[in-house]
Amino acid sequence: MVSGIPRTVAEELDAADPLAAFRDRFVSADPELIYLDGNSLGRLPTATPAVLRNVVEDGWGAGLVRSWQGWIDWGAQLGDRIAAHVLGAAPGEVVISDSTSVNLYKLAVAALDAAPGRGTVLMDAEDFPTNRYIVQGLAEQRGLRLVRLPSDLDGGLDLDALRSALDDDVALVVLSLVSYRSGALLDMAQVNDLVHAAGARVLWDVSHAAGAVPVDLAGTGAELAVGCTYKYLNGGPGSPAFLYVRRDLQSRLRQPVWGWFGQREQFEMGPDYDPVPTIERFLVSTPPLVSLAAIDPALDLVEEAGLARIRAKGLRLGRLADDLADAWLAPLGFRPASPAPERRGSHLSLYHPDAWRVCQALAADAKVVCDYRVPDRLRIGLSPLTTRFTDVWDALARTRDLVADGAYASRPAGLTRVT
Ligand SMILES: Cc1ncc(COP(=O)(O)O)c(C=O)c1O
Repeated sequence: MVSGIPRTVAEELDAADPLAAFRDRFVSADPELIYLDGNSLGRLPTATPAVLRNVVEDGWGAGLVRSWQGWIDWGAQLGDRIAAHVLGAAPGEVVISDSTSVNLYKLAVAALDAAPGRGTVLMDAEDFPTNRYIVQGLAEQRGLRLVRLPSDLDGGLDLDALRSALDDDVALVVLSLVSYRSGALLDMAQVNDLVHAAGARVLWDVSHAAGAVPVDLAGTGAELAVGCTYKYLNGGPGSPAFLYVRRDLQSRLRQPVWGWFGQREQFEMGPDYDPVPTIERFLVSTPPLVSLAAIDPALDLVEEAGLARIRAKGLRLGRLADDLADAWLAPLGFRPASPAPERRGSHLSLYHPDAWRVCQALAADAKVVCDYRVPDRLRIGLSPLTTRFTDVWDALARTRDLVADGAYASRPAGLTRVT
């Protein structure tokens, strides 16, 4: 049974896709596997293993400690590239450092310390757990009032709730630009304006936007942001994260971990901490160099494709997924759990009462890898550099057939260690 949209529609979209050739620049170990989880872990670029081999064999093996002369500024250099091509920021405003969670903590503390008379912090009640836990911890440690802003699981943050929670006691608002579950996309300019008018700061997590949706930190007046490099930026498992601090704030903000990588004249090994006035003051320690190096070849691909083309394809992929889900999956008990493509990032979620079993069966029996997010949502990541329109068509056709067959119901209900 193939009702609705014939496969030829997807084939034609692939044939006309200006980004189609990028797929061959990523490893596809199993050509039959449909990978719809690049928003969790982006695919491996084919150029990356040679770059890493070079770093390990020449840099580490032959160069040994001498290689740090070149390596030491890679985090700042890659930060400048991410600033220019991914985040709409200026050189010297972005640096690679630590993990997203750690960067969120560092910048949240810096912002709170800079607002001594204010005692309230706001967060999205449905934000990604690490963000909520870090904010919760800070509120508890510092005796702050924590307000969890109501947020629709599928539609995202209620801006009226944000508006009415803002007063002159709010120091900081922590938000994700793209919701990890539904993909709901906030209007960064509108939120910045609202929050800044109340004299507070926003700390943005742009993990699910970076490399998928054009982000304009400078143009929207954003002050602080963090994000992952292992999703749409394809930096590899656990690759270090980026942080952004608007230039005029850099010398005024202080982060809480006084490591030697933030120190002026680092190798003078001075007696007291005296941080540089630039973005490097938000660094702490020796970067995980091998992991950092993997970001370089991955960024080449994003830069070459360009965010405008990436987003344009992401929207088309999203529309196709929505149309197919509507035609094939709605009659089988699914319903959309995301906003329309223009109001979300590059992933979508579908609600189904047995989504976890369906997710397991898709991976085990149908060679479709997506992920599951509580409660009862199948999360489908569309990575414009690697996802074909026919992948979307085939994956949803396989989902339809698998759910219609009913065999997925024998899968265990208990969650695995990673979902
Ligand atoms: C929105 C968001 N923020 C933060 C993180 C966590 O980052 P990390 O574990 O690398 O600190 C994730 C991980 O998927 C995420 O989706």
